[in-house]
Amino acid sequence: MPASALMNVMTKAARKAGRTLSRDFGEVEHLQVATKGPADFVSKADLRAEKIIFEELSHARPNYCFLLEEGGIVEGSDKTHRWIIDPLDGTTNFLHGIPHFAISIALERDGELVAGLVYNPVMEELFTAEKGAGAYLNDRRIRVGGRNKLEDAVVVTGIPHRGKSGKEVFIQEMRQVTRSVVGIRRTGSAAVDLSWVAAGRFDGYWERGIQAWDMAAGIVLVREAGGRVTDAQGGDDMLTTGSVVAGNTAISTELQKTIIS
Ligand code: IPD
Ligand code: CA
Ligand code: CA
Repeated sequence: MPASALMNVMTKAARKAGRTLSRDFGEVEHLQVATKGPADFVSKADLRAEKIIFEELSHARPNYCFLLEEGGIVEGSDKTHRWIIDPLDGTTNFLHGIPHFAISIALERDGELVAGLVYNPVMEELFTAEKGAGAYLNDRRIRVGGRNKLEDAVVVTGIPHRGKSGKEVFIQEMRQVTRSVVGIRRTGSAAVDLSWVAAGRFDGYWERGIQAWDMAAGIVLVREAGGRVTDAQGGDDMLTTGSVVAGNTAISTELQKTIIS
């Protein structure tokens, strides 16, 4: 299926930012980094990538609003559209020379997520999805995995790092989930985790305490790949609660029940 005008705009921005991110990743040891908070660094690469994405999208769609991880809220005159952007998801990996990170761009229309893109420039993997049009990895249509029992599933999660709350809840959830699954993974990029659920590489994903820009694009991807995404309570408030559970319908349902049990 040919990409829409909207997806072309998003892809152009992501590929342009991806080129500088890749270059900066190659020189990662030379990057000057500033401390943003415990274990949460913001690099020059991060800001550079965000600036490129912001400029590209502003040029193509001049009136849209933005929610940027680094730049915060930028109001536009068109209040019905909002870009939600993480220019570098997987910052800790990036700074440690681990080639697992991505750019995440989502578009919200009238408060509903309608398009998502997650791009890993090192692996050259571009995940895209638009509401009603399916999910793709590069040019290939993707679907969530077909395993229907948690006992057969490999799931991925995020672990609260130093300085972040929620460790006790996380340990309790791990206790429950380890008893139920084949394996648990932690990759360090929520955007990629959701994309890999969309591609059927992971059967399920859960995490708490993440932000709208970590998950917005990935949510569209999982849904368009035939999966289901809820918050930790099984509701629809992922962006406001910061909690996410994803997988095919059977796995996401079972996983959600397991973490709150
Ligand atoms: C982080 C990643 C990670 C998640 C953290 C996020 P960042 O985003 O998505 O997987 O566990 O909660 O903050 O800081 O690399 O953009
Ligand atoms: Ca992030
Ligand atoms: Ca980030």
